[in-house]
Amino acid sequence: MLKFPENFYWGTATSAYQVEGGIKNDWSMIGKKFDAGIACDHYHKFEEDFDLAKSLNNNAHRFSIEWARIEPEEGKFDQKEIEHYRKVILALKERGLEPFMTLYHWTLPIWFVEKGGWLNEDAPKDFGRFVGKIVSEYKDLVKFWITLNEPDNVYAVLSFLIGKWPPFIKNWFKFRRVCKQLIITHKEIYELIHKISPDAFVGIAQNYTHFKGFLKILNTFWNQKFLNKIENHHDFIGLNYYFHHSLSEILKLSHRKRTDIGWEIYPEGIYHVLKDFKKYNKPIYITENGLADAKDEKRTKFIIEHLKWVYKAIEEGVDVRGYFHWSLLDNFEWDKGFEPRFGLIEIDYKTFQRIPRPSSRVYAEICKNNGTNL
Ligand code: FCB
Repeated sequence: MLKFPENFYWGTATSAYQVEGGIKNDWSMIGKKFDAGIACDHYHKFEEDFDLAKSLNNNAHRFSIEWARIEPEEGKFDQKEIEHYRKVILALKERGLEPFMTLYHWTLPIWFVEKGGWLNEDAPKDFGRFVGKIVSEYKDLVKFWITLNEPDNVYAVLSFLIGKWPPFIKNWFKFRRVCKQLIITHKEIYELIHKISPDAFVGIAQNYTHFKGFLKILNTFWNQKFLNKIENHHDFIGLNYYFHHSLSEILKLSHRKRTDIGWEIYPEGIYHVLKDFKKYNKPIYITENGLADAKDEKRTKFIIEHLKWVYKAIEEGVDVRGYFHWSLLDNFEWDKGFEPRFGLIEIDYKTFQRIPRPSSRVYAEICKNNGTNL
């Protein structure tokens, strides 16, 4: 019988822009395709949504705070929004959900991008001012801080190398500069958070692809570079696991199942990634893992299989302390819009009704039994 460690965190993850609605930032200003609009209206429905998270027997929740709401003009904080997020955090705590707050999940205030965004020399300082405010406000309520979500191999690649996301830049030198700036930013705010809140637990959420065969050579460059650069500046590792690549997967010769958006499902990969992480000697939280599956045909098996491999890693000595399924709700999937359905809970975008998918009941049972029934 499987038994996950005591005090294991079972949760789900979301990010502000993908679920809240009504945000004016660097994405919404581009135009229709990138404007999440009212999204899931989570901004007004967070209590109902956290009731659902509680009904899944979760004891933790990962979410992000929207910088553009807190500091809509440079140097001017919006007290009303600060109070809003305080209510959000309190609503989590009242339901027994430990808050894991992400400080940067890819969206930025308009004034910041007009100054040059992450390319600007002042960027770490500007972001630090926001973080200083947030941590001072919520230090008694929040212990777990995720500074940056997938900073280099997703955000910087898509926004500054491939140019698919705002600000649509395709330039190797700028890409390198942004990565460097994000490393500086992370290290500075790591120190800052600890100064304000000595007991805080701080880390990044890294997207870590499992490479097979000769593709393994990509590990250091693609997966580990950022982590190696922030050595001594993180208390835990957040793992977002979605991808594995092998020659047969790339050439589409393998016959494994794929998600609605074509990502091949390979649960065993999470085990190998966790084993890779062991050398960092840090606690690990799986901060994202999930799939687009509108019909909910594959989600139950997906969750069970991934968790079995997580368990094997734990058994072999990897210090995994939590699992956050992506996502609680269907949401705005960046350049892919509302089509991909990642939620344990379906959203009817006409009525904003929340409809739990069958897999959510299975996840609820797993969480209730701390994985013993897998
Ligand atoms: C991750 C992102 C998250 C979501 C999932 C599907 O890379 O962090 O916001 O879009 O992919």
